[in-house]
Formats: sequence, structure tokens, C-alpha cells
Amino acid sequence: MSPSAPALRSQKRRHGGAPLVMVTAYDEPSARLADAAGVDLLLVGDSLANVVLGQPDTLQVSVEDMAHHVRAVVAARPSAHVVADLPWLSYHLGEHDAVRNAATLVRAGAQSVKLEGGRRRLDVVRAIIDAEIPVMGHLGLTPQSVLAFGGFKVQAKTREAMSALVEDAVALQEAGVYAIVVEGVPPVVGTAVTEALEIPTIGIGAGPDTDGQVLVFHDLLGLSGRAPAKFVRQYADLGTAITEAVGRYAADVRAGAFPSGAEVYATPPELLD
Ligand code: KIV
Repeated sequence: MSPSAPALRSQKRRHGGAPLVMVTAYDEPSARLADAAGVDLLLVGDSLANVVLGQPDTLQVSVEDMAHHVRAVVAARPSAHVVADLPWLSYHLGEHDAVRNAATLVRAGAQSVKLEGGRRRLDVVRAIIDAEIPVMGHLGLTPQSVLAFGGFKVQAKTREAMSALVEDAVALQEAGVYAIVVEGVPPVVGTAVTEALEIPTIGIGAGPDTDGQVLVFHDLLGLSGRAPAKFVRQYADLGTAITEAVGRYAADVRAGAFPSGAEVYATPPELLD
């Protein structure tokens, strides 16, 4: 039974909750394999654009793209909670649009949705929650703001920016979000925002004090084909293992060593002569 958003909301480390483990998933195999490892949440992230579709940023995916991948993830029947990203422009044009798009992701199988931004997004956060859909917030280095930020840059590097981020987080909590992802900020900011909230924070490049951590599946497994960001710990080098395995297959085919006698169907007796 997947943990519900209300159950996750109470998983605060300082109240004795275990750290939350979230990883991205975009299809049935990644969801099945990550779920078998016992993670708490699977995030169908709009990082889909970068790591699966080879795009330079997350601005390139639509609600339909996200729904397609949510359906693939829930086909794994995971025990983890499935949260789906509302992509860029799916909640920027008004509450009606935002609720409809969040509902599309729920009908595809998501148990909650995540959206980026703080006080500027409170109206849509409230509208989605009013439609009975749990919302996860996302603050700091919000990738959908890449053009506005002028690149993927660490955020909240001044006292003023840190206070603004904490105020955003408190406002999101008051609006009813059940958790907040904090991305790409100095660890002291991850600590401050975590201390200021009663709901859990889930960090990515936000230091060790958040209530949970999230990593992109392809980054932690060495599948992304790009230099890992500073905050990534790569737990396996599956990219090298895959290229090496496909290389051995190619060599066997070229040498006439695949398939072997054990890898073919038996010849029916009447075809023997
Ligand atoms: O899309 C994504 O993968 C994310 C994580 C980086 C939190 O939003």
C-alpha cells in the first residue's frame, strides 16, 4: 500500500520520522527496479526532458508527455507514492488550467502533483488542493526558471534570498502542500527551511539536514551521459556496463557466435529432412 500524501506530510525527522527517499522514474522498468529497492516516493519528473528525451532543459515537455510516462510508471504497480511534475506552462495560465492539468496527471495514475515556485503560485496551489489533489512544492533552483535565472545556478546565496525562500516555504505550507523539494541551495538554507517548517523538506543539492533526499534515477546509476552535478552520488556505472554488454553482443553476432544451439527452437521432426 503506497504511503498517502497525508502520511508523508507527518514524516518530519525532528518528530522521529525516517528520512524520506525519493527517486525519479519515467517508465515501467525504472519504476519497478526503484520500487523493489523500497523507496518512499517515485517522482515522474519533468527531468524526463533532459535524461530521457535528450533536451537541454525541462521546458520541452507537455502535460500529455508527462501523463504518458505516469501511465508507464504506475504500470509497475509500485508500493511507493507516485508524484508527477506539472510541466512548465501547465499551471502558469490560471487556476482552471492548473486544476485540469493536475487532474490529467491524477487520471494517468499520479497520487499527487509537484509544481515549482513560492508565493507567486499560491493561487494555483490552493485551487489544486481545493480540487482534492495533494500538492508538493519545489523551491530554490527550480529548473523551469532556467531562462529567468540565466542558467542552472545555485540559488539563495544572500541573506535576503534565503529569507525570501523561507517565506515562500512557509506560505506554501500554509496553503496546504504536504512536502517541499528544495533544490540547489547552500546547505545552511536547506537547514533553515527545514527548521522553519512542520512539513517535510526533500533536498537535492540542499545539504544533509533536509527531511529526505531525491536524486534523478539516471544520475545515481551512471546512465545520464553527462558530467554529474556536484550533489550527485553515483551508486553504479550502468552506462559503462550497458555499452560493454551491447559490445559483447555485437562481437558475438559478427563472429557467428550468437545464437548458439541452446538459443534456438527445436526443429520439428517433419522438418528434419
Ligand atoms: O524533474 C525532476 O527530476 C525534479 C527533481 C530534480 C526534484 O524535479
